[in-house]
Amino acid sequence: MTRKRVLSGVQPTGDLHIGNWLGAIRNWVDLQENNETFFCVVDLHAITVPHDPKLLTQNTLSTAALYIACGMDPEKSRIFVQSHVSAHSELCWILNCLTPLNWMERMIQFKEKAKKQGENVSIGLFNYPVLMAADILLYNADLVPVGEDQKQHLELARNIVQQRINSRFANTKEKAILKVPQPLILKQGAKIMSLSDGRNKMSKSDPNEGSRIALLDPPNIINKKIKRAKTDSHIGLELGNPSRPEADNLIKIYCLLSDTPIKKANEEFAEMGWGKFKPLLAEAIISRLEPIQSKYNELMQDPAELKRVLKEGNYHASQVANETLTKIKDALGFFNGDN
Ligand code: TYM
Repeated sequence: MTRKRVLSGVQPTGDLHIGNWLGAIRNWVDLQENNETFFCVVDLHAITVPHDPKLLTQNTLSTAALYIACGMDPEKSRIFVQSHVSAHSELCWILNCLTPLNWMERMIQFKEKAKKQGENVSIGLFNYPVLMAADILLYNADLVPVGEDQKQHLELARNIVQQRINSRFANTKEKAILKVPQPLILKQGAKIMSLSDGRNKMSKSDPNEGSRIALLDPPNIINKKIKRAKTDSHIGLELGNPSRPEADNLIKIYCLLSDTPIKKANEEFAEMGWGKFKPLLAEAIISRLEPIQSKYNELMQDPAELKRVLKEGNYHASQVANETLTKIKDALGFFNGDN
């Protein structure tokens, strides 16, 4: 069986939360067993909104450490920093020139982020999905494991490959220059909702820290956040009731973290009040995050080793990325100094 190429990434903006883990990173761990996996810390994406230079360095290293703490094995996966592979920026420019403006104008996440940010929206924020397409295409990825909010960006990447690269530039013999990437979206956990409003997605950029559980939150903070999490006045918890999004979200988080089947939890909590359920949930989160946190602390005590892993990841990622970039540039007719 041929191994498939897998590529994904997380932005080093703020603290990674349980949504990032349950929706995406958790899936990466399984994929690295039988596939050729590339996971990057997408720092170029992180500057599409105003940023603090000191925090960017710190968050980049800390995000890489969290990848490993969550189970990514540097012996099996290439872990690297996006800006260390300059082909990402170069392909992004080429794709900019191939992508119609009206495809970009449909991007929901841009509209939401732009609304939040007010007037100072950068061109980079608008352009962000094209950079993401470049990330994926450079590795000629078959599979892209992400949460539900990235579905539209994946669709854009697929359209760019099919309609703007393969159909325009492939010669009749090869038919396709690049593979068309498939999104891999988990059935459970692909959209974890905010603790302060079950109708909104849990997000790193929410100014209310109480709306999310960060992977590095200590037990007392987790207890506090869960205690304050929004509830409703019903007795008994239930899943799937659209007027009770908080109950639905928190039961699902509990099930994922404690490996409890949804049906069993639904029965168990049907009569239970919030006051009894919340400590169980907090405990499930704390005990599941504990090994991740201790591995993370261990890794951060040895930054030289972490940097070594990233350097090695960068070396291997660059080889694959540069090869694909050359293939695309050749197909587009760039003079390579020799042709
Ligand atoms: P980012 O950094 O916002 O999120 C990282 C991953 O976490 C998923 N995610 C969630 N899943 C479930 N519930 C949530 N509340 C939740 N919030 C976030 C995201 O879907 C994502 O998979 N554009 C991407 C990063 C990126 C990328 C790429 C991903 C850049 N280039 C190439 C894949 C391939 C982003 O901003 O993710």
